[in-house]
Amino acid sequence: MPYSLDGRIALITGASSGIGAHLARLFAGAGAKVVLGARRVDRIAALAAEIGAAALPVALDVTDEASIAAAFDAAEAHFGTPDTVLANAGIAEAGRTIDLSTEQVRRVIDTNFTGVYLTAREAARRMIAAGSKQSGRGRIVLTGSITAEMTGQGDAAYAASKAAVVHLGRQLAREWARLGINVNTVQPGYILTEIDAAWFATEAGKAQIGTWPRRRLTPIEALNDPMLFFASDASAYVTGAHVTVDDGQSL
Ligand code: NAI
Repeated sequence: MPYSLDGRIALITGASSGIGAHLARLFAGAGAKVVLGARRVDRIAALAAEIGAAALPVALDVTDEASIAAAFDAAEAHFGTPDTVLANAGIAEAGRTIDLSTEQVRRVIDTNFTGVYLTAREAARRMIAAGSKQSGRGRIVLTGSITAEMTGQGDAAYAASKAAVVHLGRQLAREWARLGINVNTVQPGYILTEIDAAWFATEAGKAQIGTWPRRRLTPIEALNDPMLFFASDASAYVTGAHVTVDDGQSL
C-alpha cells in the first residue's frame, strides 16, 4: 500500500456498488475502519460481512438530512468520528434537455449536488467538534466526473451537477482551511459500473469507447492511488484540488 489509512475512520456514501464498494474494500485493506453508507442495506450488509470487523453498514440516503445525521451518529457510536469522508453517491439521468423531465433534473441535482453538499457539511461539523483544527487530519473527498469539463449529448443535467461538485470542493476547501479539513475532488473517466452498464451494452455506447484516444474504459483500480492519497496524511498540503483519472478520455 503506497498510503496508509491506519487509524482512520472512513465514511463512504454510495458504498453498495461500483466505486464506493471498491473503495470500501481498498480503504479497509489500507488499515481504515470503514462505514458503508447506502440505501440498499442488504448490499452493504453483505459487503460488511466480507470485510469483517473493520466495516459497519449504515442505512443512508444522501438526499435526506436526517438520514445523514443518523449515519454519522451510528458511525460515532461504533468506531468514533469519521476523519475521512468520501462523498461518492451519485446518479445519472441522461437525455436531451428538451426531453428530460423536471423530476429527473431535480433528482440528479438533489443527489449529485445537494447530497454531496449535505454529506460534506455534516462531516465538517463532526470533524470540527472532534478537534480537526488541532489534529489537521480531516479529509473530505468528492467524487466528481470528467463530464464537469466536457460537453456531451444527453449529459446537460448530470454534467452540470458534477461541475457544481468540483467548484463546491474548492469553496469548502477555502472555508475549512483553518479548521484542519482538506477537501479534494476526484474526477473519474468512464468506468464500467451499474451507473453506465446499460449504456455501454448498446452499440452507441460501444461506439463512444472508440472515440477515446486509448479506446478503452478506465479500470476501477485506476482510482486507487489518488483516492488513497487524498484520504491519507500524505495529502496534508493539498486542498481544493481536483485530479482527473480518465486515461485521456476527456482529451
Ligand atoms: P453506481 O451506480 O454503482 O454507484 C452509485 C452509488 O450511489 C450506488 O450504490 C447508489 O445506490 C448510490 N446512491 C445513489 N443515490 C443515493 C442516495 N440518495 N443515497 C445514498 N446512496 C445513493 O455507480 P458508480 O460508478 O460507482 O458511481 C459512483 C460515483 O462515481 C457517482 O457519483 C458517479 O456519478 C461517479 N462517476 C462514475 C463514473 C463511471 O463511469 N462509472 C464516471 C465519473 C463519475
